[in-house]
Amino acid sequence: MTQSVKGMRDLWGTELRHFQFVERMCYQIMGAHGYQEIRTPIVESTDLFSRSMGSTTDIINKEMYTFKDRSDRSLTLRPENTASVVRAIIQNKLLEGNDPLHLFYIGPMFRYERMQSGRYRQFWQIGAESIGVASPESEVENLVLLFDFLGSLGLTDLSLSINSVGFPDERASFYTAFKSFFKDREASFCPDCHRRIVDNPLRVLDCKVASCQTALTGHPEILNFLSSESRSHHEKFQKCLHGSNISFSTNPKMVRGLDYYTRTTFEVISPDLGAQCALLGGGRYDRLIQDLGGPATPAFGWALGLDRLVSLLIKKNISLPSKPRILLIPLGESMLEYALQLVRPLWTTGHSIELETRGVALKKSLATANRKGHSHAFILGEGEKAKNIITVKFLMTGEQEEWPLGEITSRLTKL
Ligand code: HAM
Repeated sequence: MTQSVKGMRDLWGTELRHFQFVERMCYQIMGAHGYQEIRTPIVESTDLFSRSMGSTTDIINKEMYTFKDRSDRSLTLRPENTASVVRAIIQNKLLEGNDPLHLFYIGPMFRYERMQSGRYRQFWQIGAESIGVASPESEVENLVLLFDFLGSLGLTDLSLSINSVGFPDERASFYTAFKSFFKDREASFCPDCHRRIVDNPLRVLDCKVASCQTALTGHPEILNFLSSESRSHHEKFQKCLHGSNISFSTNPKMVRGLDYYTRTTFEVISPDLGAQCALLGGGRYDRLIQDLGGPATPAFGWALGLDRLVSLLIKKNISLPSKPRILLIPLGESMLEYALQLVRPLWTTGHSIELETRGVALKKSLATANRKGHSHAFILGEGEKAKNIITVKFLMTGEQEEWPLGEITSRLTKL
């Protein structure tokens, strides 16, 4: 039998219901903050990513799904969406008259990564991008949105890890100090870090090899080498976070795995997620829009891993707001047509009522309802028809009630 592609999975049942709950809350909170949805294609020209994410990053070097189309164009399944959003903004001139822009997205991303629990080759992200404002206050507005969103899902104990990586032209003196620190203990670093220190020294800081992390003890911190403007930006950012009651810690090693960041970077990790503990990440990217051919425009945003968010909700037993899910069971084929007439107006009331159309024995239908997680069964036989009622079985408790047909909608609403 043909199986799904390694690292790509089907979503259904409980997990999908959690995805849908998160997506509903996302639309609600984003709408409340005035963020508009943007949908970009899943496939983009490969050069969009090679120009935006940095030629020495793992994503560009090892993780992209790149292929040639029938006209020999190099295309790539998007590994992230910030570059695509920026391309869409430039191509559709979205900034003209709309500055600043507040955008969000939900969709699948693709990275050819080593398989691990919580790490997929097709995974889902929700992201929010604030385009056009350079201030620390606009960063905190975007993060208040994030924490309102997480709070609406019942996740109130997560905290931010923050850093600043400044602008590329501010990093020269840091690189000098960091390279000399590296040289003094180079035997302790892995071969990849020996390559990184030449190609992209910041990447040494987030090497996952334990011995490299030990060797980094006491490393020079980039923040101390930045311009006074970048440092005061960072101080103001922290002050605003305090003012908005967003808890955070500073992490001088947190430089993020993408090269477009300038100044503020951040992540939220959750120990409950296991080895793949990064729930979300983001930061400022003031050069990206210009680098991709648009006008010089500051920007800031984040993306969270929806698969990881859902696994966290399930692990923490955060239950979904439950609406009644009903199976309407006509007793025998002769009642099916009557049931169909009766249910039609109920389907317009927003309640979830599935109609049993198989004409099987009541016992079998009830077993199906229990298996599929219905909360109630509506039973409709000759007796109910004669009395203009419906028998309602509460599947959790086994209790039964008789409801007059005219009261079904009002009683359903009270459930
Ligand atoms: P990122 O850190 O590469 O940032 O990805 C964001 C989140 O996507 C991660 O924290 C993680 O939860 C999830 N994620 C990444 N790879 C996988 C995977 N293989 N399986 C499951 N989940 C995964 C970005 O993508 C930036 N575009 C974020 C951003 C938006 N920066 C500014 N604006």
